[in-house]
Amino acid sequence: MRIHVVMMAAAGLGLSAMPALAQATLKDAFKNRLLVGVAVRPHQFTGANATQAALIANQFNSITPENVMKWDALQPRENEFHFEQADRYVDFGTRNGMFTIGHTLVWHSQVPGWLFKDAAGNPVDRETLLARMKKHIQTVVGRYKGRVKGWDVVNEALEEDGTLRQSPWLKIIGEDYLAKAFQFAHEADPAAQLYYNDYGIEGGKKRDGAIALLKKLKAAGVPVTGVGIQDHVSLTWPPATMLDETITAFGQAGLKVMITELDVDVLPARGHNTSADVSRNEAADPALNPYTNGLPANVQEALARRYAELFAVYLKHPGVVTRVTLWGLCDGESWLNDWPIRGRTSHPLLFDRACKPKPAFQALVAPRR
Ligand code: XIL
Repeated sequence: MRIHVVMMAAAGLGLSAMPALAQATLKDAFKNRLLVGVAVRPHQFTGANATQAALIANQFNSITPENVMKWDALQPRENEFHFEQADRYVDFGTRNGMFTIGHTLVWHSQVPGWLFKDAAGNPVDRETLLARMKKHIQTVVGRYKGRVKGWDVVNEALEEDGTLRQSPWLKIIGEDYLAKAFQFAHEADPAAQLYYNDYGIEGGKKRDGAIALLKKLKAAGVPVTGVGIQDHVSLTWPPATMLDETITAFGQAGLKVMITELDVDVLPARGHNTSADVSRNEAADPALNPYTNGLPANVQEALARRYAELFAVYLKHPGVVTRVTLWGLCDGESWLNDWPIRGRTSHPLLFDRACKPKPAFQALVAPRR
C-alpha cells in the first residue's frame, strides 16, 4: 500500500485523481448489514480482464457464477464433468474471502439434451432421473464442500399463477423432486446454505405460490435456508410497498431472503411483463432501444433513485435480507443487452460501459441525507 501511494505521488497524481479502486465501496457501505454480491463471468474470475477482477474484489464480498455452474457447463454429457471454469471461479472467491455462491443445481434451462432422455431418445423414468440428479448434486456440491457457502438448489420451479411449473423435473419425478434436491445437497454439504430461487415472486399469485411451497417444504423438514428473489425489476415494478410486504411474509415463514440477481431495466418494454424467463425472445424495434448513445441525465437520476429505494426496502429487514447480488458488473456485459430482445443497449447496473460508477452507485455508497 505504501509503495502504491508513493508511486501515485511520484506520478503526480493527487488522492482525488486516484482511479476506481480508491473510491468508497459497496461492501463497506452495507458492512454488517448486507453482503453485496455480483454475478461473474470467466474473463473476470480468471483475471483475463485484470481491471474488472480488481474492481470486483474491491467492491463486493460475494460472487455468483453467471453461467459456469449450470448443468450444461458442468456435465454436458452423462458422467463427463467439466470443472475447469468452476474451479477457477471458486478459487477466485476463496482467495478474495468472498461468500461464494453456487448457481444452479436443478433448473429446466441450460440443461444438456441427454438429461431427460434415454439412449433411444425417450423420456427417462423417475428412478433414472432421480439417480442423475443425485449424482450431479453429490458430485458438484461435494467438490466444493466448505468453499461454496450457499447454493441455488432449485431455480424457477413455479408458473406465473403460483402452481408448480410443468418442467421435465415435475413431469418425470413428481412433486417431491424439490425435497429430493434439497436433501441431496444437504447430504453433500450439511453446512451449506440452500435456497429456492425464482423471478416474479415479488408479488401476486406467484408470490403466494412461493410462500405456500416453501412453508410446505419447511413443514416437511426439508433443509431450505432461504428464498432467492431474483429481482430483475424495472423502474416501476415492483412498487417498494409490494416488495416490502413480500419480504415480510417470507421472513414470517422463517426464511432468509436473498436478492440474488438484481438489475433495473430502464428500456421500454412491450406491455407489462414481469417474467424473466430466459426463453423469451422478442423481435427488435428501434423504438425499444432508445439509449444507444448513453443514458439521458433524467433517466440516470431515476435509476439512482430506484436503486436507493430498493436498498432502503432491503435494509428494513435486518437479519432476513442478508445478501444482495447484482446480476453483472458493467452495463456493456449485462444479459439485458440481449434479452428479451437481442442487440439492445441496456443500462441496468451500477457501473457503466466503461466500468465507471454511475449515479446509482453513488446513491448507494453516499446516500444524500
Ligand atoms: C442468464 C445469464 O445472465 C445469461 O448469460 C445466459 O445466457 C442465460 O441466463 N434467471 C437466472 C439466471 O436464474 O441464471 C439467468 O442468467 C437470468 C434469469
